[in-house]
Amino acid sequence: MSTVGSGMIGVFDSGVGGLTVLEALAAELPSEHFIYLGDTARLPYGTKSPATVVRYALQATEALMQHRLKCLVIACNTASAVSLPAIGERAANVPVIGVIEPGAQAACAASRSGRIAVIGTEGTVRGGAYREAIRRRRADAQVTALPAPLFVALAEEGLCEGPIAEAIAHHYLDPLFEAPRRPDTLVLGCTHFPMLIRAIRAAAGADVTIVDSARTTARHVRRTLQEAGLAALGGQGSLRLLATDAPQRFARIGSRFLERPIEPHEVELIDL
Ligand code: DGL
Repeated sequence: MSTVGSGMIGVFDSGVGGLTVLEALAAELPSEHFIYLGDTARLPYGTKSPATVVRYALQATEALMQHRLKCLVIACNTASAVSLPAIGERAANVPVIGVIEPGAQAACAASRSGRIAVIGTEGTVRGGAYREAIRRRRADAQVTALPAPLFVALAEEGLCEGPIAEAIAHHYLDPLFEAPRRPDTLVLGCTHFPMLIRAIRAAAGADVTIVDSARTTARHVRRTLQEAGLAALGGQGSLRLLATDAPQRFARIGSRFLERPIEPHEVELIDL
């Protein structure tokens, strides 16, 4: 029997946010088998030091490597920004894909003026990974990166639309987009931000191209698997969900992020 394309795609995030990336991956690759690990016990990563995020991400990688993986996707922007080289070394036998490079690539392709804004967690912005990845592709780019931590709480609270979401979107984005030489492209550099796309679009303006790194990463994963001859050759895909704490909460909030109901019994509790 052929084993081409067998093995699972591991997806790692600090919590439920990466389910936006998983949802995009499952839409792009419906025949694949996914195993998702949300480190809900130690969320958020966005406020922690790089050394701590690297340590946590390596422990999560170890846990996922216990399964037969053919690819590992780091859905968390903060973890991608600081721990991709360390994870790549640990999981050297499979392709390891983070969300920063595909997002930067899409932003460079979309921007006409070269003025690109990035919003993310404190950790993602502080490390400058998006700026670096954009400038590597486009040396003339003017990158403005801004932490927008309240969006994480809003998305988890389900306050994705309405006056509160709109007010906070204006609070973060008006100083950027009301400026005379405003960016023409905005990168959503955090797993949670696609949930707030309407409020973000309304504040940024209809003429701004919004790069959702979940979708661009999913396309990148599909191309990588196809080029490596690792893509599943058909059939129905599947999903296994692991969390390090609070499976009930994971199921409740995760259902919105994944855009389909998750039952608490579907979420396996693990320790790292
Ligand atoms: N998953 C994180 C990210 O994309 C957001 C939540 C957190 O801070 O852990 O950066």
